Amino acid sequence: MRVLVTGGAGFIGSHTVLALIEAGHEVVIVDSYINAKPSVIPRLEALAGKELEVHAFDLCDAEKTDALFANAAQAGAGFDAVIHFAGLKAVGESVAKPGLYYTNNLGSTLSLLTAMQKHGVTRLVFSSSATVYGDKAPVPYNEEWDFLNSSSPYGQTKVMIERIATDVAAVSEGWKVALLRYFNPVGAHPSGQIGEDPSGIPNNLMPYISQVAVGRLAQLTVHGADYPTTDGTCERDYIHVMDLAAGHVAALNHLDAQEDVTRAYNLGSGTGTSVLDLLHAMERAVGKPLPYVVGPRRAGDLPAFWADAARANAELDWRTEKSIDDMCADTWRWQSQNPHGFPEE
Ligand code: WQD
Repeated sequence: MRVLVTGGAGFIGSHTVLALIEAGHEVVIVDSYINAKPSVIPRLEALAGKELEVHAFDLCDAEKTDALFANAAQAGAGFDAVIHFAGLKAVGESVAKPGLYYTNNLGSTLSLLTAMQKHGVTRLVFSSSATVYGDKAPVPYNEEWDFLNSSSPYGQTKVMIERIATDVAAVSEGWKVALLRYFNPVGAHPSGQIGEDPSGIPNNLMPYISQVAVGRLAQLTVHGADYPTTDGTCERDYIHVMDLAAGHVAALNHLDAQEDVTRAYNLGSGTGTSVLDLLHAMERAVGKPLPYVVGPRRAGDLPAFWADAARANAELDWRTEKSIDDMCADTWRWQSQNPHGFPEE
């Protein structure tokens, strides 16, 4: 299939681009580079062994988005499907700037869905998040839970986009939509050439630890060690980005067979790992102790959650294959080879 990947220069998007190409799909990338650096593209092309078609603009620009679809169709290279990653994703920033998040994440999606409807593109895979389960869902999280709610504007945009995509698909002839609810994506392509490169001080645990390991940050602050968990620190379902990318290919390939017009799938390992366990796994990968202190709890954190991944296992014939040690070894290879992430130019 010819697949438009929005946000294809980002962390999960770039890894999925490679997985799509390896699975025999043609890929076109659109990315505004608000959360990614253009220097990822030549690395992707080297890994893919081919040039990539990249369009650099913001999907909130409805005219440019429509023109992208129209020009592709006119050239006899219309898109068969869209994988939609593009969006702002910093939880803390979304609390401080809710208007920016609702405008950007919803606006870009509405512009995309309008263009898809107008140009007859009927297949969509959406990058959702486990955050949609909110703080009331029983663990392990199951897709049947339908009291979706999230504690941050970022998470609420995911809840809303799931709803918008569901409603649009319901009245659009022939549409199939997969909503992929990720747990905690970490790791990097085994080549070490691409990986997670957050701008500024990382909010997320794994990039923070890897920047401590490479000497960019002094020490990790563990946000609370008094939770009702195995070792007092929060437990999360970490998933290797390569497994996550494979999950997108599996969901895309399954859309024709998908019975429901729209269907959600948890992409996770089904196992919780504590902050300290992840830290110690990284120490094994790096080969040295990593400095940390225990600080106060972080507002909004839940003690522990992980996926019930049975639906994706059964229906998509997909399951995680990489271990926590794989995630750490691949993260460290990327970070040690690229201490400051992708080159600015
Ligand atoms: C994991 C654990 C922290 C940093 C977030 C988003 C979620 C999704 C994945 C997009 C928590 C602890 C962290 C640090 C720490 N993103 N931690 N010190 O919060 O589970 O999920 O990323 O979809 O929407 O909410 O991931 O990596 O931020 O935190 O102790 O410096 O690590 O308290 O317990 P989280 P995280």
